[in-house]
Amino acid sequence: PSLEKEFLPMYFGWFLSKRSSEILRKAGQVFLDELGSLKAFKKESKYFTSEDPKIKIDLTSYFVKRPPGVLHCTTKYTDFGKAAGAEDYAQQEAVRASYGKGFTLSISGLFVTTKTVGARVELSEQQLLLWPGDADKIQATDSLPKGSRAHITLGCASGIEAVQTGLDLLEFVKLERAGNKGEEVGEIGGGKLQYFGNGMWMLVLSKKINVRAIFSGYYG
Ligand code: 2AM
Repeated sequence: PSLEKEFLPMYFGWFLSKRSSEILRKAGQVFLDELGSLKAFKKESKYFTSEDPKIKIDLTSYFVKRPPGVLHCTTKYTDFGKAAGAEDYAQQEAVRASYGKGFTLSISGLFVTTKTVGARVELSEQQLLLWPGDADKIQATDSLPKGSRAHITLGCASGIEAVQTGLDLLEFVKLERAGNKGEEVGEIGGGKLQYFGNGMWMLVLSKKINVRAIFSGYYG
């Protein structure tokens, strides 16, 4: 008798504990509140609103689409096996061996664009073994360090799909690699704020946030 072909999840990734999800959500919330009330941000508020630049911008209601339940960091979007490279990824030894295991992910920054808000994840060598080879590109010709796209979506603006958050982070990485360090706007709670123009803000955390997560699959 032949076994059924393995049923693949919608995506593989690290799923944060409830407690870690709450801590990270809260940190994101504090960041949005602080950013929205900052003078430097209001000056550039045309990217987010058509209203008076002196008014505080409520970024929490701007990013209306927020992931329900626990937060996650997608490694491979497999689309139930339909995505390119899905089977190969699922069969990798590192993926099989790590399935259901606990990890600590390190969050090094929080970022905002006109489309998304997310947390930047810095993967360890061991965690990079679970990172697919094809994820760190916007264009086919991009060559960015492995794991550049690693992130946790905290919110999306109206009409934006979550897949955008990783693409937005790759835009930051491309600018950084082109020698653009962003304009240092100053210190806000938690770290140094950088502005890259076009409504792209990055908070580099002075103290990384460690979150607990289980590597697993999401079946929808
Ligand atoms: P995210 O990882 O940025 O949050 C289900 O849609 C999950 O898979 C979301 O968390 C989403 O984005 C991620 N996702 C959706 N489509 C994707 C794609 N084409 N490539 C990578 N990740 C994708």
